[in-house]
Amino acid sequence: MNEHQWVANGRNDAVSRVDGPLKVTGAAPYPADIARQDLVHAYLITSTVARGAVTKLDLEASRASPGVISILTADDFTGELDDPKFGASSTSVSPMKVDYIWHDAQILAIVIATSFEAAEEAAMQARITYHTEPVATSFGDPETETVAAAEAKEGFSGDIAVGDFEAAFAGAERCIDQTYSTPAQHHNPIELFSTTAEWHGDQLTVYEPTQNVTGWRHELARELKMAPEKVRVVSPYIGGAFGSKGPITPRTAIIAAAARKIGRPLRCVVPRGLAFAMHTYRAETKHRIRMGADAQGHITAFAHEGWELTSRPDAYAVGGTSTTARMYDYGSILTKVFLVRADRPTPSFMRSPPETPYVFALEAAMDEMAEACGLDPVEFRRRNDTSREPVEGKPFSSRSLMECYDRAADAFGWPRDRGRPGSRSDGDWLVGYGCATAIYPTNVAPSLARIKLSSDGTATVSVATHEIGTGIRTVCAQLVAEAFGLEPDRVEVRAGDSALPPAPVAGGSNTTASVSSALLAACEDIRRELVVLASKDVAHLSSGLQSSEMALKDGRLIAGNVAIPVLELMQRAGCDVIEKEGAYAPDAATKEAIANLRKGKLEMISGEKGDTVKYAFGAEMVEVRIHKRTREIRVPRIVGAFAAGRVINPMTARSQLMGGMIWGISCGLMEATEYDRATARVVNRDLQDYLIPVNADIANVEVLFVDEVDHDVNPAGVKGLGELGNVGTPAAISSAIYHATGKRIRELPIRIDSLFNA
Ligand code: MOS
Repeated sequence: MNEHQWVANGRNDAVSRVDGPLKVTGAAPYPADIARQDLVHAYLITSTVARGAVTKLDLEASRASPGVISILTADDFTGELDDPKFGASSTSVSPMKVDYIWHDAQILAIVIATSFEAAEEAAMQARITYHTEPVATSFGDPETETVAAAEAKEGFSGDIAVGDFEAAFAGAERCIDQTYSTPAQHHNPIELFSTTAEWHGDQLTVYEPTQNVTGWRHELARELKMAPEKVRVVSPYIGGAFGSKGPITPRTAIIAAAARKIGRPLRCVVPRGLAFAMHTYRAETKHRIRMGADAQGHITAFAHEGWELTSRPDAYAVGGTSTTARMYDYGSILTKVFLVRADRPTPSFMRSPPETPYVFALEAAMDEMAEACGLDPVEFRRRNDTSREPVEGKPFSSRSLMECYDRAADAFGWPRDRGRPGSRSDGDWLVGYGCATAIYPTNVAPSLARIKLSSDGTATVSVATHEIGTGIRTVCAQLVAEAFGLEPDRVEVRAGDSALPPAPVAGGSNTTASVSSALLAACEDIRRELVVLASKDVAHLSSGLQSSEMALKDGRLIAGNVAIPVLELMQRAGCDVIEKEGAYAPDAATKEAIANLRKGKLEMISGEKGDTVKYAFGAEMVEVRIHKRTREIRVPRIVGAFAAGRVINPMTARSQLMGGMIWGISCGLMEATEYDRATARVVNRDLQDYLIPVNADIANVEVLFVDEVDHDVNPAGVKGLGELGNVGTPAAISSAIYHATGKRIRELPIRIDSLFNA
């Protein structure tokens, strides 16, 4: 029995976003909106080669350009900055070092001027000459270097061996051996990346959209050789995160250092044309999957090898095999991940970093394997469903995958027999149905959260979490309102500021689970205080009840038939305010987890850790239509059914999953960052050249929830779902395209040209 069960089984109302009006009226303060009287502007001069060195940095014309205040290079910061630390930072490549160029658009110098335009104009006048070296852009280029992820990255856990795969595969009745690939993809948030730094004496405040105010505060302090107490990171609203604002990038420290040097607040907005090279992106991947099954369609052998492109200096690895190896009842398993070093910026997080590429490969292979076994793809997954993960044999805390398939099939009208590939058409259009599984680990991390409850019926929540569009402010308001019987709009939620009680990075879909659990701990601390008040309260004394038995529900302390409204209780006791800071640490975290969190060291516990393994699941079904002559690809409808433990707010959750599936369609059919093989530079380097769907590309998107109660995952009973929605979509689309055309496309994105010969 869980002490927070009263809230884990809470109301789950579809409450409108408490910050919705601020956002839609333009009143929400995004970091680059903060106005300062004497603000000046920075523009970064960046390299136009991807490998080599600067031989001459001629800034004479730039310095003479109108409005220029200062131009700063590495020489201006001697001894002031420590190198970025990969992990906390997106890269280990130091900004402004000109003696070696690691990637396209490496930062070389900072122009500071009275306006953005003046700074940009001056930057354009820089005359830079380079020594260049031959580049490796992608897989297969001679200059690439391939290393085992386990050797390059400490603690890498994606290489798994269970049973004798080779023997099982050799003895399988049915088998496939295929390769799949996914492209590099770049973030294109509508809010531009920006940094605004201002100093008050030796105190630094940085306004920048980030998913990790606490982590950034500590890494920024380290890079600037300062005490973390003197650094504050503020990020109240964020217009599009998804991993792009997870790790700090080297720009932040140099803008802060430059602001100190010129003695004025400094803002650097990264224009669209530079964002691709200066921000995190999804790595290009390749996969080989071998799968064997018996005559009844039970998988007996599964091997998944992955190759991920990374930069030369940093071993970024997503290793999605840790998830794919746990998805079905495979019998034997063999997985191995390799990193391929090329002349690119270090890749990093993008929504479902490991799962999007790796689950695409697995689920596309599952579709092929179902066919090899002569089974409907849903039936094939049913035969290989399991309540225990096959790596260590631990039970899933809950797994509602087949319930998701049943719900999705019902809503979609999944036919008993889809018919053979290419057999369905409607006028000029070939019609195909496809499906795939979505899965995402339930990650949790230590968090603190403070609640101040006032007897006038208001409350304030303070937590250094991040509203990245998921609706966390609303969820916090809901939980506190529900506990104390308040209206959600009377709960003020302060977030996005490193001065508040520390919370984890808004990454790995852990926020709602972790922050809600910390809030529930604070609610529990307040309940205890209320019980003390109740023990002295006349209404309670006359009831003869033990105060230790009193539960808190809907603003009342309840025991037996007695219910004491807590606000009235506080008023009678003359208690205006109760304020408590609650702490949550995952079961598998160390005893120092909370102390470490305060020091900026986060112990994120991933879903496969612990006595049970914890994952959220979903099933996605999609209809595609392909024009018989032009091969135009349309997606008239997609249905996703998801089970993710307690869904505190079905409205914001639906929006997450719908957005995820739309991004999944984009990933399946459109998005790819194109590189010039000769120079390792990005060709489609901004939003105008990078393909994403518009409204006309998206028709019916249906989101369904499968009820699931899981008290094992965390006190809040929540499985994160922010990244779940886009995981299965690309494979569901490739499955449907095969069904429509009879052509297997194993390379994303699947575009018209992939289908010319279909
Ligand atoms: Mo998410 S890619 O973990 O920010």
